[in-house]
Amino acid sequence: MDAVRLVEVGARDGLQNEALTLAPQSRVQLLEMLADAGLRTLEAGAFVSPRWVPQMAGSDQVLKALPIRPGVTWTALVPNLKGLEAAIASGCCEVAVFAAASEAFSQNNLNCSIEQSLRQYQQVLVRAREAGVRVRGYVSCVMGCPFSGPVTPQAVAAVSASLFAMGCYEISLGDTLGKGTPAATKSLIDACRQVVPVSALAGHFHDTYGMAIANIHAALQAGVRVFDSSVAGLGGCPYSPGATGNVATEELLYLLDGLGMSHGVDLHGVIAAGEFISAQLGRPTASRVARALLAQRASGTMA
Ligand code: HMG
Ligand code: MG
Repeated sequence: MDAVRLVEVGARDGLQNEALTLAPQSRVQLLEMLADAGLRTLEAGAFVSPRWVPQMAGSDQVLKALPIRPGVTWTALVPNLKGLEAAIASGCCEVAVFAAASEAFSQNNLNCSIEQSLRQYQQVLVRAREAGVRVRGYVSCVMGCPFSGPVTPQAVAAVSASLFAMGCYEISLGDTLGKGTPAATKSLIDACRQVVPVSALAGHFHDTYGMAIANIHAALQAGVRVFDSSVAGLGGCPYSPGATGNVATEELLYLLDGLGMSHGVDLHGVIAAGEFISAQLGRPTASRVARALLAQRASGTMA
């Protein structure tokens, strides 16, 4: 059966955008529940400036508390060598670096130009190789930038090619704004697969305009087999009207089941993790699949 690999980013991309900062203990419990459900690659935190992203403070405590589990990779975001050293000291065997396809976003997110970020990442990759740490690469703003507007597929392909050439084993294409459409997704993948093998591309779709599942379907048709998602659709910012999180892991699993594609994840286990984290955050789940199945369960009609 055609297989898809999921990268669970709820405990990082999701929680970094929530108004409430959760204690490391709650983040560890969430991650363990998600691994119990069968997720095998899980972003557990970010070694970034706590002044820039206070929600990710204590990522060292999260990573140190997570047990070694066969087949499970706990990863973390690093913006520079300082972040990489902290990740290594916390026991990370894999990290992710994050560049952007838009200059304005790079300045706002990393306080440097695209070129400066790529130079820093070159050093990160050299040190990571020495330490035996695998590195994944993100490219943000692949469908547009919140500060400067349109971004061309060629601009995304250029940054993807640089990250891949320096040794990132996979390039995750981030629709940060969640504004893309299936046709734009196809053009994006067509451009990127000219410079990075499609087997090394991943899709990272935020769901702001409700297009994430449609975009994932388009990316699947274009040959992509790795997708990032967040349990309960975590993310979005209450101070930024309209902003939403990543595609919900529950929605992605429901889509893959409907397509008959294997993924190795137990949907009900993910829903349980989503209930746990939504209670911690004091808000309902953003996953419509979870809401539907929980309502059916409550009314006794679930098979
Ligand atoms: P800066 O202010 O330019 O850094 O920030 P600096 O080098 O001038 O240092 C300033 C202070 O930060 C110093 O401390 C450094 O030690 C400290 P001070 O001397 O003032 O006490 N510092 C650090 N602290 C902890 N960890 C570090 C680190 N590096 C320096 N690694 C910096 C530059 C990169 C640090 C900052 O811009 C930053 O942390 N940015 C991260 C922003 C972020 O995390 N954004 C969200 C993740 S990206 C994302 O969500 C997109 C994605 O999901 C894909 C998509 O959807 O598109 C991946
Ligand atoms: Mg993201």
